[in-house]
Amino acid sequence: MTSPTASAEAAELQQPFPWPRPAIDPPAAYGWLRENAPIRRVELVDGQPGWLITRYDDVRELLADPRVSSDASIPGYSLLGAPRPPGKDLSFLRSDPPYHTVFRRMLGKHFAMKRVQAMRPRIQDLVDETIDRLLARQERPVDLVEHFALPIPSTVLSWLLGVPPEDRSFFNKASEDLLARGNPDIPDSEERSAAARIEMMQYIAKLSDERLALDEPGDDMLGDMAKAVKAGTISREAMINSGVTLLVAGHETTANMTALGTAILLQHPDQLAEMKATPELRAGAIEELLRFLTIVHLIVVRVAKEDIEIAGQVIPKGEAIIPLNFSANRDDAHYSDPDTFDIHRAPRDHLAFGFGIHQCMGQPLARLELDIIFETLFRRIPDLHLATEAENLPYKTYAPINGLTGLPVTW
Ligand code: HEM
Repeated sequence: MTSPTASAEAAELQQPFPWPRPAIDPPAAYGWLRENAPIRRVELVDGQPGWLITRYDDVRELLADPRVSSDASIPGYSLLGAPRPPGKDLSFLRSDPPYHTVFRRMLGKHFAMKRVQAMRPRIQDLVDETIDRLLARQERPVDLVEHFALPIPSTVLSWLLGVPPEDRSFFNKASEDLLARGNPDIPDSEERSAAARIEMMQYIAKLSDERLALDEPGDDMLGDMAKAVKAGTISREAMINSGVTLLVAGHETTANMTALGTAILLQHPDQLAEMKATPELRAGAIEELLRFLTIVHLIVVRVAKEDIEIAGQVIPKGEAIIPLNFSANRDDAHYSDPDTFDIHRAPRDHLAFGFGIHQCMGQPLARLELDIIFETLFRRIPDLHLATEAENLPYKTYAPINGLTGLPVTW
């Protein structure tokens, strides 16, 4: 017999996908789907058909399947309600090989482990200076999103993109405004975010043109892209678009992991104390935070380039595929007791960074930033605590990346 909860969850599926944003936990319907309809065709929020994939093994298999495309110009590809850019989306994130491979090869070396690790002392100084300023603030509570989580990754990205120091406060402000969408406390959040996107595009265009005018455009990321433009391998527009993609991919993600990760650790004081006492546990704790939160969720979308048979179903060519990595990371066929946060689990095979050829390029940098951030924050402010009940934390209610709009803390 169907339980009342199961039918409520089934009824939820009649709504166009996606459902209202989850807070910390994924919608209960994901569990129902994994159990009852792991490859399920639904009507997406934009009215297109799409296939929800909810089991770990299926999500991983499809993300590695070359018949599954990231090309946003294929009509069946769904942006899940986000506005479709005119013409071809030149961001390599939403493209296939061979175009995509050009960018992976060109930018990949900037995220190589050795190069990223060399940034440790500089990031450590940045985190320490940010905490000095935090500690000097008179007011309590302090918003850790505004004064800690947001400025650190945008400063790191300004280094990677070669933003001159005198432009850094503009850059940090525009990056912050770009993320305003989904914040119910900012009445004009959508407009502000759209305006900041244009401003940032114009700014990255200016930086790109400055590089393009040089005979030797440099060996950093923009320099390498400028060389590719000069060689005719990529267009100027693709260079600018990729600069903005890098910014969005690296800023909001790390900022949201910082804020949500801090909130989760503060809600598990025993595990936090253990992590502080045994530093070797920190790397595994960060992997568990990544799995448990799976903040980059509804960005991972695909479309079938051919008919694809999986788990007894055929996904027809041209239809959208939504591999739900948040659901996969909470699949009890893969992880025992998956809804429990446990730093000892230290999962190395989670799908929070995606899987396959588009797997997150910035993961060594993200891991390094989070390592320094959590170590330093909890060491330097040992009695840090939430200044509100956990259930009152302001979760983003409409944004493709889960996060908090604020994190009031005190000490
Ligand atoms: C904890 C923080 C982060 C999380 C959870 C995260 C998650 C992800 C995920 C799930 C994808 C795959 C998207 C897909 O398959 O369609 C991705 C791609 C990407 N990420 Fe991250 N990311 C993080 C931090 C960063 C950072 C710091 C950077 C550096 C700028 C970065 C750069 C990128 C890029 C460039 C891609 C596109 C890769 C491609 O299409 O080949 N990410 N990220």
